[in-house]
Amino acid sequence: MMAKELTILGIESSCDDTAAAVVRGDGARGAVLSSVVEGQTGLHAPFGGVVPEIAARAHAERLDICVSAAMAQAAVGFDDLDAIAVTSGPGLIGGVLSGVMLAKGLAAARGLPLMGVNHLAGHALTPRLTDGLDFPYLMLLVSGGHCQFLIVHGPRQFTRLGGTIDDAPGEAFDKIAKLLALPQPGGPQVEKQAILGDARRFALPRPLLDRAGCDMSFSGLKTAALRARDAIIAEKSGLTLQDRRDLCAGFQAAMADVLAEKARRALAAYLALNPAQPAFAVAGGVAANQSIRTRLEAVCADMSTSFFAPPLHLCTDNAAMIAWAGIEIFRTGGSSLEDLIARPRWPLDTAAAPLIGSGKKGAKA
Ligand code: KG4
Ligand code: ZN
Repeated sequence: MMAKELTILGIESSCDDTAAAVVRGDGARGAVLSSVVEGQTGLHAPFGGVVPEIAARAHAERLDICVSAAMAQAAVGFDDLDAIAVTSGPGLIGGVLSGVMLAKGLAAARGLPLMGVNHLAGHALTPRLTDGLDFPYLMLLVSGGHCQFLIVHGPRQFTRLGGTIDDAPGEAFDKIAKLLALPQPGGPQVEKQAILGDARRFALPRPLLDRAGCDMSFSGLKTAALRARDAIIAEKSGLTLQDRRDLCAGFQAAMADVLAEKARRALAAYLALNPAQPAFAVAGGVAANQSIRTRLEAVCADMSTSFFAPPLHLCTDNAAMIAWAGIEIFRTGGSSLEDLIARPRWPLDTAAAPLIGSGKKGAKA
C-alpha cells in the first residue's frame, strides 16, 4: 500500500548555515521542493573560526527570510504543510535556540505538528532521500564538526562504531589552510594545492592506525604539519609555493590513509552483522574531497559493497535533510516533546561511550 505523501518544512540553524527547505515524500522516496541555504562564512572570516554569538544573531535575523524563500520556491503555503521539523541539536546552542523558537512560533500559529530532529540523524538519513537506500547501511559522517561511523538501522536507531576523539577532519583541513595562509573554508584550497604537491616529502603520522577499532584522532596530525612548516620557515625563513603544496599533499594523504583504513575496519564490522545489505554511504563536506572519496570507493569495491554519496548540496549542512528526517520520524510515530529541547550535545547512539572533545563548530557528540 502506498503511504500518504507528507509535505514538511525543515529548519536548520545549528552551525554556520541558516537553512530552510520543503520536502515532500512518503518515507520511502522524497522530492526536495526547495532548499535555501545562507552561509555565514563572510561574517566569521575576520575571526578565523565560527563565533557562536555572531552565528546565533545571524540565524535569528535571517531564519524567517529563509523560511519565506523556501515556501515561495516550493510554491506551497502553510495550509499545504503536514508538519514542521527543526534541528534541536547537537550544535551551537544559540543558533539551535533561534531555530527551535521560530519553529515553535510557526507551529503554534498554524496549528501544525512540530518535530525536533537530531542534526546528525538528518545527515545519516540523507541517502534514503537521494538514493532510496534501504535500512540498514553503514554511514561515515565526515565534516567540519563531525566524524563518525554509524550503522543506520532506522530513523531513530543508530549504532556508533567509532569516531574522532578530538578534531573533525574538516576542522583539521581548515586549520592546515590557515597555517599555510590559504583562504577559508580550507578543505577545497588544500585539495587544490595538494594536486601539485609531493605527498612523500614530509613523513606525517597516521594517528591511531596502530590501535584496534575505528576511533580516529587528527589533532596530532595537525600539530605534525605545523612543526614541519615551522622547520622549513626556520631553515629558509619562508615558505615557497612548492613547500605549501607538498605540505597540503602530505596532510591530505595522511587523512585519506586514516579514513580509508578506519572505513575498512568499520565496514568489516558492519558486514559481519549485516552481510545481506552491503551498503556504505558518506555525508559531510569532506566527502567532496576527490582523493578521500576515491579511497573510500576503493575500500567498498574491495569489499563488494555499494558506495553512496549524496550530491554535495545535500551532503553539507542544509534543511532538506532535516525535513526528510521529519518525514521519516512523522511516519514512524512522531517525535516526543523531549526532542524539542534545544541541546548542544545529543549523541545518536546513547549506548556508545561518549566521544571527547568539542571543536570550534560545536560539540562532536
Ligand atoms: O558538511 P559541512 O558543510 O559542515 C560543517 O561542518 O559545517 O562541511 C564543511 C567542512 C569544512 O571544514 C571544509 O573545509 C570541508 O568540509 N571541506 C573539504 C572539502 N570541501 C569542504 N575538506 C576537504 N576537501 C574538500 N574538497
Ligand atoms: Zn552537519
